[in-house]
Amino acid sequence: MTQPIIRRLPPETVNRIAAGEVVERPASVVKELAENALDAGAKRIDITAEGGGLVRLLIEDDGKGMSPEELELCIERHATSKLPIAEDGQDDLLNISTMGFRGEALPSIGSIARLSITTQAKGAGDAWAILVEGGKTKGIAPAAPLGRGGTRIEVRDLFYATPARLKFLKSERSENLGIADVVKRMAMSRPDVGFFLTLDGRKRLSVAAERGEGSEARIARMSAILGSDFGENALEVDQERDGVRIFGFASLPTYSRGSSMHQYLFVNGRPVRDKLLGGAVRGAYQDFLARDRHPVVALNVELPTDLVDVNVHPAKAEVRFRDAGLVRGLIVGSLRHALAAAGHRASTTVAGYALGRVRPEGYQPPQAPPGGYQSHTASLAGWGAPRPPSEPIQDRVFDPGMSARVEPNPSDYGAGMGEDVPAGFEAAQPASPPPDWPLGVARAQLHETYVVAQTGDGIVIVDQHAAHERLVYERMKKMIAETGVQRQRLLVPEIVNLDEAEARRLLERTEELEELGLVIEAFGQGAIAVRETPALLKKLDVQGLIRDLADDLAEYDQALSLKEKLEDVVGTMACHGSVRSGRRLNGEEMNALLREMEATPHSGQCNHGRPTYVELKLSDIERLFGRR
Ligand SMILES: Nc1ncnc2c1ncn2[C@@H]1O[C@H](COP(=O)(O)OP(=O)(O)OP(=O)(O)O)[C@@H](O)[C@H]1O
Ligand SMILES: [Mg+2]
Repeated sequence: MTQPIIRRLPPETVNRIAAGEVVERPASVVKELAENALDAGAKRIDITAEGGGLVRLLIEDDGKGMSPEELELCIERHATSKLPIAEDGQDDLLNISTMGFRGEALPSIGSIARLSITTQAKGAGDAWAILVEGGKTKGIAPAAPLGRGGTRIEVRDLFYATPARLKFLKSERSENLGIADVVKRMAMSRPDVGFFLTLDGRKRLSVAAERGEGSEARIARMSAILGSDFGENALEVDQERDGVRIFGFASLPTYSRGSSMHQYLFVNGRPVRDKLLGGAVRGAYQDFLARDRHPVVALNVELPTDLVDVNVHPAKAEVRFRDAGLVRGLIVGSLRHALAAAGHRASTTVAGYALGRVRPEGYQPPQAPPGGYQSHTASLAGWGAPRPPSEPIQDRVFDPGMSARVEPNPSDYGAGMGEDVPAGFEAAQPASPPPDWPLGVARAQLHETYVVAQTGDGIVIVDQHAAHERLVYERMKKMIAETGVQRQRLLVPEIVNLDEAEARRLLERTEELEELGLVIEAFGQGAIAVRETPALLKKLDVQGLIRDLADDLAEYDQALSLKEKLEDVVGTMACHGSVRSGRRLNGEEMNALLREMEATPHSGQCNHGRPTYVELKLSDIERLFGRR
């Protein structure tokens, strides 16, 4: 080798290297080009993709367009119209108010694809076109007028010049989904602009520019994209401190999803995926949601451009705040404020905080690893382990139809809804609990949610929903191991409308779901028909279940079988098929619940890791009242 060891790389190579960072997949091209359109003041952006964006991408805008001189420059590396010049004559990298500023996107794309740009400056009568193929410019030429100011950019054969890159791409479908996600996020941040996306000839998104102003326009746009039930379940957030403003929408804790995919965050209108922001959202909802639930949020952070550095990531997906603590604190504060202001709408979990204050010492918070604790006081430790029940508890099923041996019986607490507690019930109960009833004798049901029982030396409060959920879960696990899950046919199949991706993920698992008692089939684009459900889940919220399962699947490793994720899957099912709070239980039902809890392993925690009951010793209660 006689070549010099150090050499200057030719511009095509330099551009391809840059393209490696800027253009990871077709969706990145869409992002760069649509951002250029926004920077050009477009009020309408039309995006067309074919073959996952690899065959052809077309982005048309009605922005200010370019003069022929600008057109020639725009495909040159590090040529940009967007970097302001500061007073000292230097380029001002700290004062960026546009989406782009690096002058890299177009040359990068031109170096790995066939790029053609047609543009007409606003007010000019003529249009011009330029072609770049694999980094080689084919000169500029007059083009047929576009009829108005604007720019039309076509990208064909993406990555043809860097075929190795093609190997890293996912299926056409996932690339299409990536494109749709990018457009969705942008459309959310700019309600004043119309976005129209067509994928392989099918309209995928079309939202006209919102007429209204401010938050009204924002919620209209978000509802258009996230579905109107988001609008109905969203709280408005708007707070400002020290020049930093947080505004947008956050869902009620009761409107949560199984993954954090549905969290949309924007910094000065720029969609970002930022750990700090994500962590702040989690922190704000911590007291309100189980660890595996995620709120849906769409939040904007607006702050002076010199307080945030957007030049830390080549694809501009991340940003750095000068005062990260301030931003984090503001997000947590504003979300908590909104949740508190929502009052009773924001579920009842606030009370959990207060309850935590009186929890006996030694209580471990739910953050303990699943299965890390079974009961909350030393005196009960140990009974959560499997042991033969003192009566044939397995026969006390929630659903009488599940076992032929059991006759329909109102004491099965999945049957017989809403009877009153029979008069004289108290008298029929043992005055003090037998020693083998560690959860005591049921004395009352409060707020149709909590069963209060008297134990030998204290009281137990059971969350009937959480407890029932856990029992269903344990029973399903046993059935799967022993006999398989029995199913029941729905009289009318239930149709659930989903994202195309969500539907696909579920359908890929059809056979496995069937083993778990759920029979589904495709029902047109993005919809699923549910035909059979597990027999032991009565009053099943099919819609909610299917949606949450779709979210769960998105998070699972594709190589894992659902059986390997059994705890999660069955947990999700049990959650949607359980006795919700708000159901009146009679005395026998309550005691049956307590006895089955005693006989079931791990029944001290629900599937989300929260306790299913708490026990207060008399000594704790006495301390509360200052008697000790
Ligand atoms: N759709 C468009 N309408 C009008 N001008 C455009 C359009 N797209 C690009 N330009 C012009 O071309 C220039 C180069 O665009 P390019 O995307 O390569 O760089 P940039 O947007 O300045 O920075 P970045 O690399 O960060 O995106 C822009 O600065 C802008 O002046
Ligand atoms: Mg750009």
